[in-house]
Amino acid sequence: RDITLLPVIEGVQVYPQYIADGALVVDDMIGCIVEYGRSETILSKYANEEGRLAVKVHDYRDKLIMPGFIDTHVHYPQIDMIAAYGEQLLDWLNNYTFVTEANFGDPKVAHDTAQFFLNQLLANGTTSAMVFSTSHPESVNAFFTESHKLNTRMITGNVLMDQNAPDNLCVPAEQGIRDTQNIIDNWHERGRQHVAITPRFAITSTPKQLQMAGELYASYESVYLQTHLAENHDEIAFVKQLYPTHKGYLDVYDDMGLLGRRTTLAHGIHLEISEYERLRATGTQISHCPTSNLFLGSGLFDLPKTLRYTGVSIATDVGAGTSLSMLTTLSEAYKIQQLQSNQLSAHQGLYQITLGNAQSLLLDNKIGNFMPNKEADFVVIDMGATALLERRMAQTKTLEEQLFVLMMLGDDRVIDQTVIAGVSRYRKSTL
Ligand code: GUN
Ligand code: FE
Repeated sequence: RDITLLPVIEGVQVYPQYIADGALVVDDMIGCIVEYGRSETILSKYANEEGRLAVKVHDYRDKLIMPGFIDTHVHYPQIDMIAAYGEQLLDWLNNYTFVTEANFGDPKVAHDTAQFFLNQLLANGTTSAMVFSTSHPESVNAFFTESHKLNTRMITGNVLMDQNAPDNLCVPAEQGIRDTQNIIDNWHERGRQHVAITPRFAITSTPKQLQMAGELYASYESVYLQTHLAENHDEIAFVKQLYPTHKGYLDVYDDMGLLGRRTTLAHGIHLEISEYERLRATGTQISHCPTSNLFLGSGLFDLPKTLRYTGVSIATDVGAGTSLSMLTTLSEAYKIQQLQSNQLSAHQGLYQITLGNAQSLLLDNKIGNFMPNKEADFVVIDMGATALLERRMAQTKTLEEQLFVLMMLGDDRVIDQTVIAGVSRYRKSTL
């Protein structure tokens, strides 16, 4: 077998493991990690009696190798309306988002955008994501088709919405559920693709639709569920108006059977203690979306408080989020915690966007670090990609300091190469 060997001068491995002058051994026939270690040790192990290497060597001296980044909440169709001016959540949805999403019944639009979006993820070092498509099954088929070609590990599903949205996005409850069922039959666990049952949020689904989504969720062991929760005060008030007899926003989802360990709820900024307790009791995960929360003026997410109750992942939420870069996202997450006198260290942040996010999505047996037999999704990072970074890095004394500068100043410019299951899928243009 042609095993790829990747000696590096520096390399972050399992958090907080760091190997200066390390090597990563990849079996590129099966796309998995064989082992890693000090390059000297690895090189001698793979040399034959004449001292020649039985493997192909890629030298990334002076670069840093990290596991691929994972984005746990992002809307691929919204890449076409990212950075739309002036509104908070509900007006932003009505005035910009729904208008753009209506285009995705056209398979050509869906394929073009899915392809562009996936390439943008790779350019940002993101190798896996939990994604919203639109309510059109075409949008999901297009996304999975393009992802399957790239062999990226992705999760998505058709967005369920049957009220409080334009007619061209609403799909009757039974039809939406049938569409999801077909998508599960066609795509769930085909290659590296997974399906998530995807009610948009309590406002755009009738009780009947939410209930059917809950029944479908209960009938599968490995299908995911994703939706939004408690992002904005007007949104919460609207949910209370639609569901006056429920205890609160989370209780609507709880009552409909939507909570559980395979459920990821985006935002969860404004919650009562009883709601945090239900998150804990059900194992439901929260996805924190810092650039989105700032852009839509939604509020300040309390990371340490939420972590006391349940698993938290971190995500971009493009197109309300303003960057697909998980590094930029961490930098904004840090500032949101600073405003509340909380900290977010570089180790915690970088752990979160790799193994931490993998754990939240129950994918840590497959991705998230460089343990043997995991899938070889990784990024090659150029810590001195810009003149400023190069100058600033030269002033650092410790690894922690370097990683913190990377987290605060890094973005797509530091991503030199992105490798998916042992295959290089993105290389930064040097022109
Ligand atoms: N809540 C319901 N839909 C959306 C969406 O598309 N983006 C965000 N940020 N919040 C939502
Ligand atoms: Fe979202």
